[in-house]
Amino acid sequence: MTAILYISNTGYTRKYASLLAEQTGLALYSLQEAARHVGRGEDVLFLGWMCANSIKGYKKAAKHYRLLAVCAVGMAVPSEKYLQDIVHSNHITQCPVFYLQGGFAMERLRGIYRLMMKNMAKTVSTKLQEKQDRTPEDDMMLEMMLHGGDFVSLENLTPVLQWYEAEKHRTTQQT
Ligand SMILES: Cc1cc2nc3c(=O)[nH]c(=O)nc-3n(C[C@H](O)[C@H](O)[C@H](O)COP(=O)(O)O)c2cc1C
Repeated sequence: MTAILYISNTGYTRKYASLLAEQTGLALYSLQEAARHVGRGEDVLFLGWMCANSIKGYKKAAKHYRLLAVCAVGMAVPSEKYLQDIVHSNHITQCPVFYLQGGFAMERLRGIYRLMMKNMAKTVSTKLQEKQDRTPEDDMMLEMMLHGGDFVSLENLTPVLQWYEAEKHRTTQQT
C-alpha cells in the first residue's frame, strides 16, 4: 500500500488519518496533496468525513486510486445499521468500509456548512430534550449538539489496524 489519503473539514478525519499513519508508518496526504505525490491507480487507504450521508471525496478518490479500504468519519453514534447505510448510499462494493465517530465543533464550521448544522443542531436538540425515554446514544448526541464533542481515539482504530495487518500479511504471502 502506498499511502493514507484523507479529506477533512474540521480536523477529526485528519486526526484519525495521522494516528493511522503513525501506527502503520505509511505516508500521509490530503486528497489535494495526493495529486502531486501518489500515482494514479496506486493502492491507498482513504478517509473522508460524512456530509449528508455521503463520504466527502470518495468519488474522486475512487476515480484516481485503487482504494483498499475506506473510513467514513461522522458524528453519528456507531452502529452496524449506520455502517450498512453508508456502504449502500455511497455504492461501495470494491473494498471494506469502516465507520469512525469523529466529533462536532460548530465554531470550526464556516459558510453553508455552519448554516446547515446550526439548523440541524437546533432541531435535533429540541427533539431530544423533549424525548422522555432517552437512550445513552440519545444523550451522547444531545450533549454533542449542545456543546460539541471529540470522540477520536486510537482505540476506535483497532478494527482498521487489524484489517491493515491482515492485508499486509496477505500481500507478503503473495510475493
Ligand atoms: C453539512 C454537514 C453534514 C453532515 N452530515 C453528517 C452525516 O450525514 N452523518 C454523520 O455522521 N455526520 C455528519 N456530519 C458531521 C461530520 O461528519 C463530523 O463532524 C465529522 O467528524 C467531521 O469530520 P472533519 O472534522 O474531518 O471535517 C455533518 C457535518 C456537516 C458540517
